[in-house]
Amino acid sequence: MTDNPVVFVTRRLPEAVEDRLRRDYKPRLNGDDRPPTAEEVVEGSRDADALLPCPTDRISADVIARLDDSVKTIATFSAGFEHIDIAAAKDRGIVVTNTPDVLTDATADIAMLLILGAARRAHEGGRMVREATWGAWAPTGMRGVHVTGARLGILGMGRIGRAVARRATGFGMDIHYHNRSRLPSGLESGATFHSGLDGLLAVSDILSIHCPSTPDTAKLLNAERIARLPDGAVVVNTARGDAVDDDALIAALRSGKLFAAGLDVYDGEPHIHPDYRTLANAFLLPHLGSATVATRDAMGFRALDNLDAFFQGREPPDRVA
Ligand code: DGY
Repeated sequence: MTDNPVVFVTRRLPEAVEDRLRRDYKPRLNGDDRPPTAEEVVEGSRDADALLPCPTDRISADVIARLDDSVKTIATFSAGFEHIDIAAAKDRGIVVTNTPDVLTDATADIAMLLILGAARRAHEGGRMVREATWGAWAPTGMRGVHVTGARLGILGMGRIGRAVARRATGFGMDIHYHNRSRLPSGLESGATFHSGLDGLLAVSDILSIHCPSTPDTAKLLNAERIARLPDGAVVVNTARGDAVDDDALIAALRSGKLFAAGLDVYDGEPHIHPDYRTLANAFLLPHLGSATVATRDAMGFRALDNLDAFFQGREPPDRVA
C-alpha cells in the first residue's frame, strides 16, 4: 500500500482492532459509538476508500447510491450482511465482505445457553431468587423440559447449526435438521436429515433457528408452522429476529402450545415486541451471540484481513459481493 486508505468506521471497535486500523489505515473512528443515521453514513463516506459498518447500520440501496465515488469496498463487522443491499453494491462495483467462521463457537454457546435457560426456566428461577419469592424446595416446583434425550431440530445446518449439534450431542440430545441440501455424512455426524421443514417441525421438542435472513426466511416461523411443533416445544433463535412472526410466537407462549422460548435476536431490535417482556416463559438476551472478547477481536481482524487483501490487490477471502 502506498498512501494508507481512508476507512470510515461506524461504531467503536475493540481496542486491538482500532490499534491495527490506526497502524495500517487512516481510520475515521466513531468516538461516541452511536449508530450513524443514513445521512451520517453518506457524510462519512466523503473521500473514504472503504466503510467498516456493523449490523446496526442499514446500508440501503439509497445509501449506496449516495456514497462517495471514492468508496471501493465495504467490510462489515459481522457474519450477517442483510443490512447491506448487496445488489446495489454490486451495481456500483463496490466489493462487500463479511466475517464468517470466527463467531461460530461463541454463537453456538449462546444457543446452548438459551436451550438450557428456556427449557429449565432460568429466567423465572433467577427472578425468584432476586425478588425473594423463593419458597421451600418443592417436589412439584419449577419443573422444566428434560433436555437429555430430547429431539433438537436445527433449522439451517451451516457452521453455527453444526456447532450447536456438536454441543447438543454432548448433552445427550437426538439431533435432527433441515437444510437446503443434505450434508455429506462426515458433516452430518449422525444427525437425521428432513428434506421438508414440516418434517423437522413435527419432531422438534426443541427447535433452534440458524438460517440467514433472506426474503425467503422472513417470518418463517409463523402460526401455521408453530402449530406443527409438538405441544410443549421450546423455540430458540440466535440467527435473526425476522425469521419469527412475533405475534404468533407470543400467542403460542401465552396459550401454552409452547413451553418456552429463548431469544437472542429480535425483529426491529433493540425495539423488541413489548409483550416478550411480560412473559415469564421467555428467556431473553440482548444479541450476545458473538459477544466474547476473543470473538469480537477476531471479527475485527477478519474485517481488516479483507480490507488488507482488497487494498493489496488480492481477492478478499470473505467476499459476498
Ligand atoms: C453477526 O455477525 O451477524 C452477528 O449477528 C453479530 O453477533
